Amino acid sequence: MDKRLQKEIEAFKDVESYAELMARPYTRALKEETHRRMTEFTFDRMRILEVGAGITEFEDLYKNSALICLSDINFKLLSENRDKAGVRIVCDGQNLPFKDETFDYVIFIGVLHHFPDQEKGLAEASRIMKVGGRSFMVEPHRLSINYFYYLGRRLFLFLFGEKFVKKLIGCFTPDEVQLDVRAVKRIFRPTSEIKINTMLSFRLPPFRLFKKATLDVRLSQFFDRVFPFNKIGTTIFVNVIKKQ
Ligand SMILES: C[S@@+](CC[C@H](N)C(=O)[O-])C[C@H]1O[C@@H](n2cnc3c(N)ncnc32)[C@H](O)[C@@H]1O
Repeated sequence: MDKRLQKEIEAFKDVESYAELMARPYTRALKEETHRRMTEFTFDRMRILEVGAGITEFEDLYKNSALICLSDINFKLLSENRDKAGVRIVCDGQNLPFKDETFDYVIFIGVLHHFPDQEKGLAEASRIMKVGGRSFMVEPHRLSINYFYYLGRRLFLFLFGEKFVKKLIGCFTPDEVQLDVRAVKRIFRPTSEIKINTMLSFRLPPFRLFKKATLDVRLSQFFDRVFPFNKIGTTIFVNVIKKQ
């Protein structure tokens, strides 16, 4: 297997540090908002694919679906979903083993930014979505304070190496980079309608030291209502509806 994909599997094989990342107030705020937005979709009798599902937190929304398929490159994480309904498939999100136009919903929560080739993953989503189907993406937004943290992380990796940065950040992969919004537009514009918005305008550096800090969530609750901060949120939501 490709070395970069191997690193992705390594990074998330420790379920405890994955759980620690998911428990941070910033992550909780974005997951709660994601859940709220997903309640607006009609999943009943639909065929749904969650790509890079890890341990899904959305199974309650899928309970009346025709098919729920949870996929991830990491067998260990995926098997943590064993008590949940649906099919589980270990696969790379950049090469999905499904026929064209199989799904009504293709969902990516915090996963595209782990792909070596985001455009490939997006093209796969476009291929396997039915006409009239949707893709929903929730990812770190590049045009935000995230980009400074990304540059800082690259510098720290260069100066001090991976072990040190892992101690500082916890669960992360060295090559992850925020969502490429231009790639989203390139792939989906010819066939689909795209709606984009952002939230959580402020974020503390993603250090373990701040793992319980709520300052960023509280500040964001205020600034998210103010222009231009509402345009440069650290989390981006992308809604795609395939028209043809
Ligand atoms: C930050 S976690 C997000 C998990 C889950 N979607 C959530 O929001 O809680 C990133 C997930 O993407 C998965 N992943 C990374 N690279 C992948 C790839 N190429 N194909 C499929 N899944 C991948 C990881 O194994 C991990 O489960």
